[in-house]
Amino acid sequence: MEFQPTRSITKENPYRICFVCLGNICRSPTAEGIFQHKVKELGLGSYFYVDSAGTGAYHVGEKANATSRSVAESHGVSLLSRARQFDYDDFNEFDLILAMDASNYANIMTLKSGTTTTQVDMMRRFDTEGTNEDVPDPYYGGLNGFEVVFSILERSSKELINQLTPHILNE
Ligand code: 4NP
Repeated sequence: MEFQPTRSITKENPYRICFVCLGNICRSPTAEGIFQHKVKELGLGSYFYVDSAGTGAYHVGEKANATSRSVAESHGVSLLSRARQFDYDDFNEFDLILAMDASNYANIMTLKSGTTTTQVDMMRRFDTEGTNEDVPDPYYGGLNGFEVVFSILERSSKELINQLTPHILNE
């Protein structure tokens, strides 16, 4: 089913997306970097504001994981984020919060109040080849895990952009 954002997207009011995983050093910085790269490539960079965060505080202040960075770089994508912890205020900052796995989703929902209009969803709802709803955590795996994560996030970001672009208003 097509995703329905709650509002139109303009340059004056860019659509704000936060990608969330556990550590904010592997999956969500990769999602952020890919999405940013793709919207820039399409000339749509000024319609979006993207960020990422982790539900855990283990790596706060750190650069993205070295393997995540080198895999992304080999695909032309730079990961520039520093890890931060997701918190309650993020519901005031973002239109859409996308969780990498079911555990991240559950952690986000425990912080969500009834009044926020922020939408929370799973990243892989946008994966055109997805059968597994989680973006697998590559942290304890080998290089192949990072490549798999990159390709899942590339497909999902592309489809997310496809589903959001009809909501862009060109003034
Ligand atoms: P991420 O991967 O959630 O994709 O950033 C992880 C990074 C670190 C840890 C777990 C997952 N950790 O437990 O330190």
